[in-house]
Amino acid sequence: MEIFIDSASIPEIERWLKMGVADGVTTNPSIMLKDGVYDAERGAKEIAALIDPRPLSVEVTTNDLDEMLAQARGFASWAPNIVIKIPQETQDGVPCYGVIHQLETEGIRVNATVALSFGQVILSAKAGATYISIFAGRLGDEGGNPTEVIEDSVEWLERWGYESKIIVGSIRSVADVLQAVVAGAHILTIPPQFITKMADHKYTRDTVRQFVADARTALEKMQRAKV
Ligand code: E4P
Repeated sequence: MEIFIDSASIPEIERWLKMGVADGVTTNPSIMLKDGVYDAERGAKEIAALIDPRPLSVEVTTNDLDEMLAQARGFASWAPNIVIKIPQETQDGVPCYGVIHQLETEGIRVNATVALSFGQVILSAKAGATYISIFAGRLGDEGGNPTEVIEDSVEWLERWGYESKIIVGSIRSVADVLQAVVAGAHILTIPPQFITKMADHKYTRDTVRQFVADARTALEKMQRAKV
């Protein structure tokens, strides 16, 4: 199982990369805006170079299918480890599987994003997407069951021999991460604040505090015994 960082913040990406827990990065236009990356090309090139050869997902920003193809080809030329995020459908409900299929045929890796149902996962895999992003938090917002969709998707991909990897994103808590892991997600893309929370436990800190204090006491006793 892999962990991607769902962020465009260079310091955060660097932090988790150095700790050996980051296998890739995902962004979208909202994440870039939140993290102050207004020049997508500059930001994406910087992140791609930092994490190379790990994958960086960059999302297209248009509802026009021809423009999507043109944008995707342009973004993919920025660095060899850039993966293009194509949504399941446009905001007007036009399916984007043709774009996914065309790009994968050209050797451009696609992350079929904003998947909110098992049906969309099936169509993304058929179209040949390298990655398929299930948005767990948003699925739950609508009363859906993310665990069920993740389990069904992973089992279906394996049963029929598809190579697409399920990324679970739209993480709202550490519990979301752990539920997706248990459901069999191939990849979790996690906002940095939740990785920080995963790393921390009050009792771990208390235990380490006790060990450090006892080690100091032992040292003092040893030094006093020598005098
Ligand atoms: C995943 O690739 C997306 O970038 C992200 O997880 C979306 O999450 P959101 O629902 O918080 O926007």
